[in-house]
Amino acid sequence: MTDQDIAKRRAAEAALEFVPEGEVIGVGTGSTANHFIDCLAGIRERIRGAVASSVATATRLKAAGIDLYELNDAGTLPLYVDGADEATEHRQLIKGGGGALTREKIIAAASRQFVCIADESKLVRRLGAFPLPVEVIPMARSYVAREIIALGGKPAYRKDFITDNGNAIVDVHGLDIVEPIKLEQALNNIVGVVTCGLFAARGADVLLLGGAGGVKRIG
Ligand code: 5RP
Repeated sequence: MTDQDIAKRRAAEAALEFVPEGEVIGVGTGSTANHFIDCLAGIRERIRGAVASSVATATRLKAAGIDLYELNDAGTLPLYVDGADEATEHRQLIKGGGGALTREKIIAAASRQFVCIADESKLVRRLGAFPLPVEVIPMARSYVAREIIALGGKPAYRKDFITDNGNAIVDVHGLDIVEPIKLEQALNNIVGVVTCGLFAARGADVLLLGGAGGVKRIG
């Protein structure tokens, strides 16, 4: 394992203490979320099951012997655990590097507590150096790109990638995000946008950042 992987693993292990007994929890997507699934496998008899934020996560949860639930059947979840591409001290995030942002945002919205796990390199003073993923209905791609340019961003179509919902991803470069909630609303208001990867209006409740010295908790 690389140092970054060890840091991700530490954050994932630290999230276990938030897992409530006998409940269905939400599980995110990506390499840090995968570490969490591996940790969760060790305590699988303590939970009822999980709602997956992607097909990839569903496959991994199933392989770990964890029962899968549909969000529509599970109701409000007590906990959602997921990684991030960037995070601030205010626990606002950029997510969607893996393209699962829409389902991730739905599960985060439907959960009482969102614990974000990441290695400490993800902590930034201001969001935007990581290209902001935006999920787009395919026929609206070009229109949405023009609207994004009008908002000051440089859109790049993510080639050869289709989301689990059958949509396209536009990654927005060149943003220095001073007002994350305002930008999140503006992007979500463009017709044809399914959702953007800014998790600002509903950020994380707790941020667990793994590093060489252990895990730092924010929130
Ligand atoms: C997937 C995500 C991931 O949480 C994000 O890309 C971070 O991934 P990783 O844990 O592999 O660094 O939002 O859509």
